[in-house]
Amino acid sequence: MTQEREMEKISFDWLNKLPKVELHLHLEGTLEPELMFELAQRNQVTIPFQSVEQLRAAYQFNNLQDFLDIYYQGAEVLLVAQDFYDLTWAYLLKCKEQNIIHVEPFFDPQTHTARGIPFATVLEGIERALIDGKNKLGISSKLILCFLRHLSEEDAFNTLAQAIPYLDKIRAVGLDSSEKGHPPEKFSRVFAKARQLGLLTVAHAGEEGPAGNIWTAINDLQVARVDHGVSAISDQPLMAELIKTQMPLTICPLSNTKLKVFADMSDHTILQMLADGVCVTVNSDDPAYFGGYMTENFVALVDALNLNKTQAKQLVANSINGSFVSQKSKQKMLVQLSDYR
Ligand code: HPA
Ligand code: ZN
Repeated sequence: MTQEREMEKISFDWLNKLPKVELHLHLEGTLEPELMFELAQRNQVTIPFQSVEQLRAAYQFNNLQDFLDIYYQGAEVLLVAQDFYDLTWAYLLKCKEQNIIHVEPFFDPQTHTARGIPFATVLEGIERALIDGKNKLGISSKLILCFLRHLSEEDAFNTLAQAIPYLDKIRAVGLDSSEKGHPPEKFSRVFAKARQLGLLTVAHAGEEGPAGNIWTAINDLQVARVDHGVSAISDQPLMAELIKTQMPLTICPLSNTKLKVFADMSDHTILQMLADGVCVTVNSDDPAYFGGYMTENFVALVDALNLNKTQAKQLVANSINGSFVSQKSKQKMLVQLSDYR
C-alpha cells in the first residue's frame, strides 16, 4: 500500500464491506428498542417505557452495573423460542449488511431460566436462527454459553448440567455480568467441569476489574481468549505474557466509552496494544445499547484514533486467528481478508 493511500481517511463503505469476524457479542445485547416493543406487545409484557425514543434516551450509563440493570430488564420480553429466533435472526441480518462472515455469540441462559423459561426454549430458538444464518446468509458461527458471575457457583453448575444434552451446539463457556466482587476464580471448578466436557473457555476480565483478573482467567479458568482485557496495559509482565502467547483480547470500543471504562475514544489504548504486538480484536458487545455494530466500532476508531487500513486488516486477522474454527477455515477467511483492498 502506498504512503498516500495509507494517509487517506478510511470510509464507512470500505469498513462496512471489509470481511469481518465478531468474537464478543451478547445476543441479548442486540435487542433493539423496536423489537423490544414488538415482543412486549406480542407477549403481553409491560415495559416501563412509553416509546422507542424514551427507551433509547434511557441508554445513558455511568458504569457496567447501570447498563446491566437495564439490559436484564429488557430481556424480560423474551419468552418463547420464536422470540429467541427473531432476536438472533435480526442480528444475523445486520451481520450480512456489514459483511461479518463469522460470529461467536454469547447467550446468558440464567437471565431466562431464572424467569421460568426452559433452557431448551432459549437454545432451540437461537440454534435454529444460527442454522438459517449458515444456510441462507452464509454466516458461520460457534455459540458460547455465558455464566452470570453475580450468581452463585451452584447456579452455574446447574446451568452447565442443563447444557449437557446440547453440547454439540455449544463450543465454549464464558463469564459475564458484574466483574467487581466476582473474580474469575469464583468459577474455577465450574470451568474445570466444562473443560472436562470438551468445551473451550473464555471470560470477561479486566473490563472494570484489575489486571489480576486477567491472570486468574488465564491461570485458573484456562481461557482461550480474554473478553475485554483492557486493564492489561497497567501490568507489564502481563503484557509480555499476552504478546508471547498471542492470547486474543476481544475489545469493544463503543462499549468501553459508553460504560466509561475510557472517558473518551481518543483515550482508548487498543491501537497502542496492537502496535505492541498484542492480539487485540474489535467487537460490538451489546450493539443495541452501545450505539453501534461492528462497522460503527471501526468507524469510531478511525474518527478518534486515525485507524488506517493496515491496522483495520490486522485487527480482523487477529479475530480470525483467535476464532474457534478449524485451521482450514481460518486460512480461507485470511485469504478472503487479504484479497480485500
Ligand atoms: N460486561 C459484562 N457483562 C456483560 C457485558 C459486558 O460488557 N455485556 C453483557 N453482559
Ligand atoms: Zn461483553
